[in-house]
Amino acid sequence: MPRRLLILGAGGHGRAVADLAAACDWTVAGFTDRPGADPRVLGGDEDLPALARSAPIDAGVIGVGNSALQRRAELFDRLRESRLPIPALVHPRATLSSSARVSAGSVVFPAAVLGAGVTVAENVVIYSGAVVEHDCRIADHAYISPGAILSGAVVVEVGAFIGAGAVILPGVTIGKHAVVGAGAVVLADVLAGETVAGVPARPRGA
Ligand SMILES: CC(C)(COP(=O)(O)OP(=O)(O)OC[C@H]1O[C@@H](n2cnc3c(N)ncnc32)[C@H](O)[C@@H]1OP(=O)(O)O)[C@@H](O)C(=O)NCCC(=O)NCCS
Repeated sequence: MPRRLLILGAGGHGRAVADLAAACDWTVAGFTDRPGADPRVLGGDEDLPALARSAPIDAGVIGVGNSALQRRAELFDRLRESRLPIPALVHPRATLSSSARVSAGSVVFPAAVLGAGVTVAENVVIYSGAVVEHDCRIADHAYISPGAILSGAVVVEVGAFIGAGAVILPGVTIGKHAVVGAGAVVLADVLAGETVAGVPARPRGA
């Protein structure tokens, strides 16, 4: 019985999610995006309710990446409204503790590691090779880029972005919609909406 998945967004991240979905035994039914973005585009985001009702689609996930972080949350709300089921996609070569939890719409790419007691809320991205150690809490719509290392008990609040290869020290909180630059080493809490970069990480412009 095929499990047909609609992916919202046909850009680079959407195509990465399509690969992940195939590895998780889903068949990609198509994407929503602008016409011509990919031959498999079935319609625009505004067509989602009609597609959910009529097309041979069993579920949906978000395929918009970090180029439009705010949009990821808005699209997720639309997907919920469409009443399509929203699966979590966890690659078979990701390593998860038996006590780690991943909620609806979140995507966990190959070689990611989720330690004991980790909770990943909805519509979160955990990219390839990211390490999310024990007791970390990752809130809705957060985005963890490739190779980032979150030491134990880190809290990542709603919609925050962690750049590639960043290292977050134990117990640090990354505030709502904060941005951590690639390669940063974060020693202390980052305020909501703040962007930090560097080693050690400092607010931009400081
Ligand atoms: C930190 C970041 C968000 C800043 O983006 P931005 O505001 O567009 O910054 P700019 O590229 O205009 O650079 C501004 C300055 O910050 C510096 N800078 C940019 N990124 C930096 C980083 N990660 N670490 C240290 N310094 C950085 C630039 O060298 C530049 O310095 P200057 O003013 O002395 O010339 C961005 O560079 C970044 O690291 N993004 C993460 C990308 C990533 O990991 N993507 C993974 C997707 S899967």
